Amino acid sequence: KKFAIFASGSGSNAEAIWQAIDRGDLSGECVLLVTDKPEAKVLERADRFNIPTFSFEPKTYASKAEFEQEILVLLQALGADYIVLAGYMRLIGDVLLTAYPKQIINIHPSLLPAFPGKDAIGQALAANVPTSGITVHYVDAGMDTGPIIAQQDVAIAGCDAAEAARRIQAVEHQLYPRVLQQVFIQQEVFK
Ligand code: GRF
Repeated sequence: KKFAIFASGSGSNAEAIWQAIDRGDLSGECVLLVTDKPEAKVLERADRFNIPTFSFEPKTYASKAEFEQEILVLLQALGADYIVLAGYMRLIGDVLLTAYPKQIINIHPSLLPAFPGKDAIGQALAANVPTSGITVHYVDAGMDTGPIIAQQDVAIAGCDAAEAARRIQAVEHQLYPRVLQQVFIQQEVFK
């Protein structure tokens, strides 16, 4: 399967996916890295893995539909079957949701439906839950609301924010490539 990754930040999950491909653990081809933050660190990582990139500034467009339309043209030209969100800090709009039904996947650092939205790890620590975790899900128009594909627990009792983030990210880097492999291979099972 061919896919694009959308990311806004560091890109450690994107890198974990590219490493899984290089190791032969994930049979897919990442045809594009899209970022809405032209200074994001993920761009340097993409260069290291020779992944083509498209960065854009949302405020230079009249609307979300306008920049999503531009991205869609690129995705279609490259033959992307899926969109993989890895720290993309924006809701996906109608243009991409319509073009990629059940083919947009996200990873979120909580056991959804608990702690959707920003700073899920901070939310879990503030709520004093002993266990949080990770959710991989299909994307719909809501904020972290689409059908769940996989979840994994991560113990965070007694952790400070940095340690909780470290634990959760370490598990994300294992889980995301594994779940993507399942989705790419057994797409029918999840439909
Ligand atoms: C990850 O924790 C992911 O779950 C969330 O955003 C973070 C992205 O981190 N959606 P990175 O940019 O992959 O390092």
